[in-house]
Amino acid sequence: MNNKKFYVTTPIYFPSGTPHIGTSYTTIAADAVARYKRLQGYDVMFTTGTDEHGQKIETNALKAGKTPKEYVDEIVDKFKNLWKILGISNNKFIRTTDESHEKAVQKIFKKLYDGGKIYKGKYKGWYCTPDEAFFTDTQLKDGKCPDCGREVVWMEEEAYFFKLSEYGDKLLEYYEKHPDFIQPEGRKNEMIQFIKNGLDDLCVSRTSFKWGIPVDFDDKHVVYVWLDALTNYINSQGYTSENDSEFKKFWPADVHFVGKEILRFHVIIWPAILMALGLPLPKQVFAHGWILFGDGNKMSKSRGNIVDPIVLCDRYGVDALRYFLMREFSFSSDGLFTNEALINRINFDLANDLGNLLSRTVAMIGKYFDGIIPETQKESAIDSELINFAVNLKKEYETKMDNYRFSAALSDVWLLISKCNKYIDETMPWKLGKDPNEKDRLARVMYNLCECLRIISVLIEPFMPGTPEKIQHQIGADKNQCTWESASKWGVLPRNLKTQKGEPLFPRIDVKKEIEELNKMVEDSMKAAASKAAEKAAENAENAENVVKLIDIEDFAKVKLIVAKITECEPVKKSKKLLKLRVDDGQGGRTVVSGISQHYTPEELIGKSIILVSNLKPAKLCGVESNGMILAATCPENKVKVIFADDEIPAGSEIR
Ligand code: MSP
Repeated sequence: MNNKKFYVTTPIYFPSGTPHIGTSYTTIAADAVARYKRLQGYDVMFTTGTDEHGQKIETNALKAGKTPKEYVDEIVDKFKNLWKILGISNNKFIRTTDESHEKAVQKIFKKLYDGGKIYKGKYKGWYCTPDEAFFTDTQLKDGKCPDCGREVVWMEEEAYFFKLSEYGDKLLEYYEKHPDFIQPEGRKNEMIQFIKNGLDDLCVSRTSFKWGIPVDFDDKHVVYVWLDALTNYINSQGYTSENDSEFKKFWPADVHFVGKEILRFHVIIWPAILMALGLPLPKQVFAHGWILFGDGNKMSKSRGNIVDPIVLCDRYGVDALRYFLMREFSFSSDGLFTNEALINRINFDLANDLGNLLSRTVAMIGKYFDGIIPETQKESAIDSELINFAVNLKKEYETKMDNYRFSAALSDVWLLISKCNKYIDETMPWKLGKDPNEKDRLARVMYNLCECLRIISVLIEPFMPGTPEKIQHQIGADKNQCTWESASKWGVLPRNLKTQKGEPLFPRIDVKKEIEELNKMVEDSMKAAASKAAEKAAENAENAENVVKLIDIEDFAKVKLIVAKITECEPVKKSKKLLKLRVDDGQGGRTVVSGISQHYTPEELIGKSIILVSNLKPAKLCGVESNGMILAATCPENKVKVIFADDEIPAGSEIR
């Protein structure tokens, strides 16, 4: 049995839009680690998947005229398809709508409730729907979501709470004892500060929408989407199920890869849940930076760049895109994506440095030896330097890979590539080729280059799964001469090596022409998007006229209507339309502003009973704060008629 095991995860993605370069980035990084560990002989578990519940998905589905399940099914297929194109070698793809996951979440929720870790209460606070995250007043940044800067909504509902507040000290202690738990180190302080500011209990159920996993002992509630999602990491391994052998084998995970904005969920909420369940914590959570697009935005709605991974793979090949993403950006920091940077990397690193090294070497072996390197003896000092560097490279590379410094690991490999190219310049095979006495030396130079190419082909495999075989085929290497162990050995290729000329690995791209073509594609797609948007707007307008949108009784119940009596009324200065009214609402009175001054004089209104929407958020109109809205009907010829109520009804009476 293999005792070396390794469990790596990606976040599970919201299927609220098509997968893009950003989501591909995390997945490719996790894939590189999974492949690297497999090469090292580990038994690897690599999971990814989709986080399909929540209010945002429910709303998106409604807008698209689909059921939430129909909506997510379509997008999940796109994720799966893209991972296939990108050569992602995940062992599992977990969907939070999988029955096994749903059951496990219900069991976990019940277990936490029975254990007194979850209790019932009432939630009052702010909610960011796109991020599905709760915030207190003080956590908001300029009144908006502190994570993504978008609008938040006020929420009040009966809910279950997880006793997160009990875990602050335990988490801090855990961080202290496990200094590598949060990576990169630089992000740890922010998390510690967050805990030190005080942890509130976490609302873990919702009643205001339906698209979630029902709490099985109180099915008015659905489980909060983050509790649902985070447990994917154990549920995918069969936690709580009859067959939990994988869970026993692979949990705790070795590393969760997450984007920096969701680190908080993974190093505070997730460990607290695990502690409450009495389970071990993941060994490490690594927060990577964002790939930013032209306008400094993390979403790949970029102006001026083609960012669809499928289009990029089509044009440049999967390995080129994977290489670029892992080489160009330092995994722990943000980086800017541009098509120009991608093309430059392909031209310089792949076509020139690696591609040319291979094609030059194989071409020379063809020219001087008809493709077969004769057995040789002659070795010189310049060889030893190259050989030393090549056989020690794997160790250097592993140190970087073990710390998820992908770009640095690749940079080491490219150092060997450039050393080889320099070695060709220095040994001058074209000169040796002219001198019959130097045939033996020339053969040695060629053999050394093939050995280096063999080592290079093994070390690039985690990042570029399709390229190694092409290299190995051209240099005549066997798969069993290209194992991980062999990457730090010399003299593995047989003497009398038979090479084979092949296609260039990465054709050079004409930058100017390519950028022109890409710009044209961007322009065309912008035009197409604009005309589609116009069509959609026209269609919506038409539908809005014809369709009355039905609501549930719960929706109606959110609007609090009361009868109120107008006690004072005057026009709002500097406004042609507004009247300022003082109304008796049965609770001491309030001020309301209404746009009816062209239809009523104050005298016509004072003393009348009206219907008031009493739970509207306050709004300032022409400098006057309005605390509600008076109901009125829009009549033909733009006339407005206030709905007066029976004078007998006492002010403050609720309307149902
Ligand atoms: N569903 C949650 C995760 C739950 S995990 C238990 C979620 N989903 S997400 O689809 O919004 O984001 C998933 C991951 O993609 C995050 O780690 C996020 O950082 C990453 N990326 C999305 N856009 C990105 C970039 N532009 N660049 C790098 N990664 C980015 O959050």
